[in-house]
Amino acid sequence: MNTNERLDHLKKLRAEARLGGGQKRIDKLHSLGRMTARERIDVLLDKDSFEEFDMYKSHRCTDFDMQEKKFLGDGVVTGYGTIDGRIVYVFAQDFTVLGGSLSETFAEKICKIMDLAQKNGAPVIGLNDSGGARIQEGIESLAGYSDIFLRNVMSSGVIPQISAIFGPCAGGAVYSPALTDFVVMVKNNSYMFLTGPKVVKSVTHEDVTVEELGGADMHASRSGVSDYAAESGTDAIDYVRKLFSYLPQNNVENPPIVPCSDAVDRTSSNLNAIIPENPNEAYDMKEIILQSVDNGEFLEVKAQFAPNIIVGFARYNGMSVGIVANQPAHFSGVLDIDSSVKGARFVRFCDCFNIPVVTFVDVPGFLPGTVQEYGGVIRNGAKILYAYAEATIPKVTVITRKAYGGAYCVMSSKHLRGDINYAWPSAEIAVMGAKGAVEVLYGRQAKKQDNPAQFLSQKEKEYQDTVANPYVAAQRGYIDDIIEPARTRIRIIRALTILQDKRDTNPMKKHGNIPL
Ligand code: HXC
Repeated sequence: MNTNERLDHLKKLRAEARLGGGQKRIDKLHSLGRMTARERIDVLLDKDSFEEFDMYKSHRCTDFDMQEKKFLGDGVVTGYGTIDGRIVYVFAQDFTVLGGSLSETFAEKICKIMDLAQKNGAPVIGLNDSGGARIQEGIESLAGYSDIFLRNVMSSGVIPQISAIFGPCAGGAVYSPALTDFVVMVKNNSYMFLTGPKVVKSVTHEDVTVEELGGADMHASRSGVSDYAAESGTDAIDYVRKLFSYLPQNNVENPPIVPCSDAVDRTSSNLNAIIPENPNEAYDMKEIILQSVDNGEFLEVKAQFAPNIIVGFARYNGMSVGIVANQPAHFSGVLDIDSSVKGARFVRFCDCFNIPVVTFVDVPGFLPGTVQEYGGVIRNGAKILYAYAEATIPKVTVITRKAYGGAYCVMSSKHLRGDINYAWPSAEIAVMGAKGAVEVLYGRQAKKQDNPAQFLSQKEKEYQDTVANPYVAAQRGYIDDIIEPARTRIRIIRALTILQDKRDTNPMKKHGNIPL
């Protein structure tokens, strides 16, 4: 071949690789409203920033006439590029090639970029669309999955790992995303399950649709596997880009600080009146979050799962923070199994990656009852306690109303190394709610009264005035200051500013034993 022929040959191979499983299969994908792997990468990364590896690699399988079914790239597009100028490593599974199924070579390609990402301290974003282990290969593809799982675990807490799921993801294809930090799915278009409806029917005799078994809404609201149910593929990628903007490149860097266009000393006078006079009345904690953060921008994570706790990312004066907040508008903001696990995992993520946590507290306690006890509310509730206690990142707490019992201890209290703890004047910090407390203390005495209800109500008021307020805790220094709600933003910004260089450590150990 002469020079021109060599170049033409190269161009031909590159064009062939770019076509994946062929135009027909690409058209089919488009007709289902799905993008190809390469189109997804284009939407994810900055224009022209993608550098691809292993475009000419193909599988080595010869069983089942597989030598006749070779595709350049072997069903996964891998490489690196930038998002807002910051490096990320990417793999995108190509459903047009043998259903995006994972072969030995497919796994080698993913492992290569995972190794580079870990060595160079840059995040990995996986765009998943796969029928699982390549059935024709057998053990090689299982080995390939295991190689990826090992890297997911080794990278955990070192570099952020984000998974977006498009189309069906079955079998082994679900466990790698499950090991990553965040999973984003697409409504009516992406599915995650160990085995599809047909296998389910044959094993458990259940009739279930793909949507019910592993759809985006199910995983976002019931299983908690997914962090966001996107409206479309582009919405999913947009969410990933936003999420990435709050994160550092790795565990030894701090998150990026962005220029802040929102006044640092902006006050919100309506917050002074947001707490209802009736302590049992709900209000929307999200309003407090939106009023206090920069430009009212809050990226919620797991919004549909355990909505009694809110978690997500925001900025104060351009600094990234993780926000954790009880939500009195859902089940009174009670802590139960799901909300404890949701909060714990989020706090641990922030702690891995040097992202300060701001906690807004209005919690009546842990949810009592057999359903919770049988489900292990003790073991699961202990997770959020553990997560806050071990976290060494800056921790700023604002108690807006109730902080009762064990839930007071848990929610970033001073005792678990909360750095700056504020309370609003409406805060009620006590062992339990006034009603429950007087029942225990005065129940027997009340029965002897002419008017038990009036007696108990009087005692309730006494309890409220004596104990259930922020001043007892403030006298002991468990609360650093009682602040005017309208000035919450500026007080949080000042707290985060003085904590910017905070250094704290835990005792040397291999790892702790969080109650899983
Ligand atoms: C090889 C596969 C494949 C697979 C799909 N294909 N999955 N090839 N290995 N795992 C191929 C199909 O043969 C087909 O090829 C093309 O991809 C598109 O698949 P369709 O079935 O036509 O698409 P669709 O109707 O959209 O259904 C998608 C699907 C279904 C739901 C993913 O293909 C499916 O159920 N696949 C098997 C899923 C599964 O059970 N995986 C578990 C593997 S075991 P042609 O040439 O016809 O276009 C596993 C264990 C690992 O993963 C455990 C590690 C811990």
